[in-house]
Amino acid sequence: MKIHNYANYNAMSNACAEIILNDLAAKPNSLMALATGNSPLGVYNQLALKHKEEPQLFNKLRIIKLDEWGGIPLENPSTCESFLQQHFIKPLNISPDRYLSFGNHADDPETECERVQTVLKDHGPIDSCVLGIGKNGHLGFNEPAETLLPHCHVVQLAKTSQQHSMVESLSHNPTYGITLGMADILQSKKIVLLLTGEGKAATIEKFMTQKISTKLPASFLWLHPNVHCFVDRNVLG
Ligand code: GLP
Repeated sequence: MKIHNYANYNAMSNACAEIILNDLAAKPNSLMALATGNSPLGVYNQLALKHKEEPQLFNKLRIIKLDEWGGIPLENPSTCESFLQQHFIKPLNISPDRYLSFGNHADDPETECERVQTVLKDHGPIDSCVLGIGKNGHLGFNEPAETLLPHCHVVQLAKTSQQHSMVESLSHNPTYGITLGMADILQSKKIVLLLTGEGKAATIEKFMTQKISTKLPASFLWLHPNVHCFVDRNVLG
């Protein structure tokens, strides 16, 4: 794992965007899996700025959503879908045929997971997976547990996830989510991990011990041969 340290969030985001742009120049039709939340937002904003100067850089880029809250209409501003549409899909002009999204149908989320798995099989592997770390060490919605699952699945959300800033203003917080699984993430050719955010110092410290545990899903990234980890030193105190 290559660890890159930065003094603050902006420096971290700019450097990470730079690496992503270099990779994209080398492979314009890259398939990128994208997390949502505050960790990657600065990176996405940088990429959107670049799109204004050189839109052609992004005209083959393909995107797959990493995870989604369950039981909220997709068009609700709190969903991962709305986040990605607002901060990536629209500003970077990703056409619908290049965006592999998924729904969160309350009646049958398992069938949607099976569909996502087929889509991934047909369009994968993921070239570049952009991840944040949850306060509890989750990746996507792969929550700390006795066992982890390899592929796209429906998951019971941990309390910390249910209180995430994306959904805290909702009258009913989501109790479940849909996420790509650990194998889907680990089969990505390259992984970009952003370590930033208030209240994560203890989790990041644990992650840095390199001890691998299902109780800290992000620790499995130590098994991957091509991870670039961007650290915002500001959050470590
Ligand atoms: C959320 C998202 C994840 C994200 C993580 C961290 O639950 N579903 O994809 O990586 O939690 O969020 P943040 O970057 O806002 O701290």
